[in-house]
Amino acid sequence: MRREPARTVGTSPLPAADAVSPVERRRRAYFHRRLGAWFRRAGRHDLPWQRDRRGYAVWVSEIMLQQTTVETVRGYYGGFLRRFPTVRALAEANLDEVLALWSGLGYYRRAHHLHRAARLVVARHGGRLPRREEDLGALPGIGPSTAGAIASLAYDRPAVVLDTNVRRVLTRYWRDMHRHLGGGERALWALARWLLPEEGGRAHTQALMDLGALVCRPRDPGCPRCPLVADCPGPSGEGAPRRPKADSERRRRRMTLLLFRDRQGRVLLERRSSRGIWAGLWCLPEAEGSASVSVGSAGPGLLARRLHRLSHLDLEICLLAAHPLPPPGRSGRGRRWASARERARLGLPPIVRAMLESLPVT
Ligand code: ADE
Repeated sequence: MRREPARTVGTSPLPAADAVSPVERRRRAYFHRRLGAWFRRAGRHDLPWQRDRRGYAVWVSEIMLQQTTVETVRGYYGGFLRRFPTVRALAEANLDEVLALWSGLGYYRRAHHLHRAARLVVARHGGRLPRREEDLGALPGIGPSTAGAIASLAYDRPAVVLDTNVRRVLTRYWRDMHRHLGGGERALWALARWLLPEEGGRAHTQALMDLGALVCRPRDPGCPRCPLVADCPGPSGEGAPRRPKADSERRRRRMTLLLFRDRQGRVLLERRSSRGIWAGLWCLPEAEGSASVSVGSAGPGLLARRLHRLSHLDLEICLLAAHPLPPPGRSGRGRRWASARERARLGLPPIVRAMLESLPVT
């Protein structure tokens, strides 16, 4: 996962005029021409979030698209906007409902931030998403690149977006210029700002995103199909193709979840802390020192075991039957007993919901 960079980089100065040779200026014009023609012919022009250009709708889509694939977001975006069609509707909702709709998208802090930011937009801006990048960037969950994406895609302004796809395109094609500017984060922002067109911020942003997603991919760049192949130094250096991690190199963690049932068959749920995996979702209580609880393959009390592959680690989840009495509550955590019907309305991690549903009597 790539975090948004510190806010200061968004204001890096443009490369000084005399730092850019006429050759590089011509290359810039060539880059725009080739990229623009390719985008009109082969770019993505019918994504669900391209049909509603309101700042609010673009904002929701950009938050969902952080660290999440287009294909996954397709399954969530429409439903979320139908339930929360405006900033106000989102601000007035309760967090549990927002999390329930977000459940399965992952990185739940995004949903907390979105909800908190919607309330701030109502309080500070009368329910209208601000247009200026500085005001957008002052809202929770909106870093400089996301602010640039909203400004360009919703309002067609020239604004820098540096998500992972765009970074890869720029650090590959503009490798030498990036180095010439000093390399690193500040130079990349300066380069991206120098490349902004005076008009047509939306098409520029979408074209860069699309080229990165469809052609200039991380591991198998489609150079023969690339409109910029003629003078691209190739996918080496910072943007070099990465080897996928072998299974043996991936991090692995065990999590032990406890199933407490009361006489009515309800199960005990705990709200997870607002940090870490499944932030703020309802879940079965996790055994303290989970990783060290040892569970034989058919040990007593083992109800289910699943391997859950996350982007950054493999999680082995073991579900154990616990004694009828729940352990004393830990401070600061919400707890509740929930029937199957009640659980349907709460945000649970989908894998945990599936494990519960696979049991004979829950
Ligand atoms: N990734 C981030 N923003 C995107 C967008 N608007 N369209 C496609 N992929 C994206």
